[in-house]
Amino acid sequence: MRILVADVGGTHVKLMVTGAEPRKFDSGDGFTPEQLIAGIKAHTADWTFDVATIGVPSPVLRGAVMEEPWNLGRGWVGFDYEGALGVPTRIINDAAMQALGSDEGGRMLFLGLGSGLGTALVDEGRVVPLELAHLPFRDQTFEDYCGQRGLRTLGEAEWKAVVLEAAELLRAAVAAEYVVLGGGNVRFFTDLPTRVRRGHNDRAFEGGFRVWADERPLPAAWQSLFAHAATWKGRSLAHCFEHDRDRAVRFTVRLGDLTVDYSKTHVDTDTMKLLAELARATGVEALRDRMFAGEPINTTEGRAVLHTALRNRSDRPVIVQGRDVMPDVRAALDHMRSFSESVRSGQWTGHTGARITDIVNIGIGGSDLGPAMVTSALEPLTVGGPRLHFVSNVDGAHMGQTLRHLDARTTLVVVASKTFTTQETMANARTAREWFLGSARDEAHIAKHFVAVSTNETEVRRFGIAPEQMFVFWDWVGGRYSVWSSIGLPVALAVGFDRFEELLDGAFQMDEHFRTAPVEQNIPMLLGLLGVWYASVLGVDTHAVLPYEQLLHRLPAYLQQLDMESNGKRVDRHGRPVSLGTGPIVWGEPGTNGQHAFFQLLHQGTRQVTCDFLVGLESPYPLGAHHRLLLANCFAQTEALMHGKDEAAVRHELTSQGLTGPALEALVPHKIFPGNRPSTTIVYRTLNPRTLGMLLAMYEHKVFTMGALWGVNSFDQWGVELGKQLARRIDEDLTGDVDTHAHDASTNQLINLARRVAKRAH
Ligand code: F6P
Repeated sequence: MRILVADVGGTHVKLMVTGAEPRKFDSGDGFTPEQLIAGIKAHTADWTFDVATIGVPSPVLRGAVMEEPWNLGRGWVGFDYEGALGVPTRIINDAAMQALGSDEGGRMLFLGLGSGLGTALVDEGRVVPLELAHLPFRDQTFEDYCGQRGLRTLGEAEWKAVVLEAAELLRAAVAAEYVVLGGGNVRFFTDLPTRVRRGHNDRAFEGGFRVWADERPLPAAWQSLFAHAATWKGRSLAHCFEHDRDRAVRFTVRLGDLTVDYSKTHVDTDTMKLLAELARATGVEALRDRMFAGEPINTTEGRAVLHTALRNRSDRPVIVQGRDVMPDVRAALDHMRSFSESVRSGQWTGHTGARITDIVNIGIGGSDLGPAMVTSALEPLTVGGPRLHFVSNVDGAHMGQTLRHLDARTTLVVVASKTFTTQETMANARTAREWFLGSARDEAHIAKHFVAVSTNETEVRRFGIAPEQMFVFWDWVGGRYSVWSSIGLPVALAVGFDRFEELLDGAFQMDEHFRTAPVEQNIPMLLGLLGVWYASVLGVDTHAVLPYEQLLHRLPAYLQQLDMESNGKRVDRHGRPVSLGTGPIVWGEPGTNGQHAFFQLLHQGTRQVTCDFLVGLESPYPLGAHHRLLLANCFAQTEALMHGKDEAAVRHELTSQGLTGPALEALVPHKIFPGNRPSTTIVYRTLNPRTLGMLLAMYEHKVFTMGALWGVNSFDQWGVELGKQLARRIDEDLTGDVDTHAHDASTNQLINLARRVAKRAH
């Protein structure tokens, strides 16, 4: 999250946004909130921020200005700051903001020694606004003595004595543990008594940031990165390449036949050093080791996170709650092997004795995206096997258009659901069952045509599938991490179990690398660090996945669930709001199709997008010059994004085409490419099961690294629950006899419209 802080003073407004250099503009007598907003907008046009803090020199209660500031104009009370600025905005008293910036814990009284006397209490990081300045003191008020007027009339020595006397009185009155003196006039003090400390006037901005940070200071490793980000201002990637001939080599890592070139991203040696320090300071390696060791790091569900055990190709045991899970993992793999081989060989037949020709996997989320994506990625290897179909959407069109082409006598249905309670999957499974019985007539035949993949035997039985037809996995496998488990059964059915094992081998190779390589050479960690560098520090929170590989056309959708369901979190593992932007928006399309759709925005739009380009050096479908063209396009895009095309080049090009005068001038701005847009290129020899396993495990561990750096739990998904609950309730309303009034007016209207149409149709 990027925070704008505006510190409104009597002569200036000071501005700062996370990671940038401060700016300021004039305020003064008669200065209004409208002028403040106009000034902020004019001075921050090139900054992006998600929220704002405004420190005003007035009493503030529950985020509202209570009195017009004495040293500015009118209109501050009741002004809609948030509406005018267009982002969530918190208003705070300026002294309270300074106080927060100087907070060192405990209970602190802050006294701002300026022209007046600002007062605030910070109690365990929470600011309590105070207005003590106008309380009687001696024969006048505290402000009369401690403010600028007191300094003038008393002289420096006496004023200092009075300030310390007042500080002790006020400290005792609010039962603070210590007093912090801030404001410009604190400079007159050299020595201070034990319970009085000097504030950091330059840290008012820090206070503005802390307003949004659940009052927790940003750890030092993050602060160093934010400070370092300023060194990237005005520095272009093209310039980096011109001045560093080793850049491409230095910022490329390899594992097996995988090459990851991140040299076209905004990093230098210092950036990488700071990022590695961040990884160490945040304990990424320790959390990784706890994951591999089977500790319950999915804290909200009290579960271990052990998709790595599913592809543990070593003989190392993996202990969960005192028990080695590897024998169960191997037994489940054996079950998959024997079943997939017997279906593929024709030994397993339908109830009429006919060979199985089509397999329908019914599942959603992780029970669909993984097997669907892997099956289409390995499509060249499916020759001779059954045809695979994937139905996930509860929209009847999905099931209807799939079944329309199938023969129930030669179709096998795999009902895949970890919980076996997911509404969409169960609705689709019931429809498939009815469709099948419509042809087979006898429930006994279900045994030959329906299998289940689940952790929930009770529900599987209740549905009518016998335990012998059930493929198991365990609660320590997250849905989006489950393609390596029995959820991968459709893959084994499509390409054969040996190929499925190669997929596991590839993932295991990446696991070993992730487990043992130092941060600086650790591919998933480096990608994760780059991810947070862009998303949290540089404020680039949109990430495009661009496979130059038609067979990976479902990869962006798969990674959307992996990344966004894992790291789309707003509180940390302890339930505290996170202070930085977390999971980016992930999207994408295969190249070259994307080039003719959204690449315009990547090259010339106003926002930055980080891009992953993925390409194999050889094609699984060698066909004339196609693959050379594909590679040329892929590499050209990364070069174009980085280099861009400057005005001089555009002018030269257009004039050499004969364009001059107004026609030339009109076209020039449209043809400029600013460049300096980041991308990472991931190259492999050819897309095969092993490489795919490596790639997917790489992305899993990248997501893990990012979650660990942000301190969020990447393994729960509570955000999907509310919609599910409401859908159940609305489903009842839709079947009701009368209009509903139980929701807001818009939702009522939509439900009642649908209910009446449905009623008429019957
Ligand atoms: O909707 C969220 C989710 O729980 C995903 O995490 C999961 O992959 C999907 O639903 C399907 O769940 P299940 O496998 O239990 O049907």
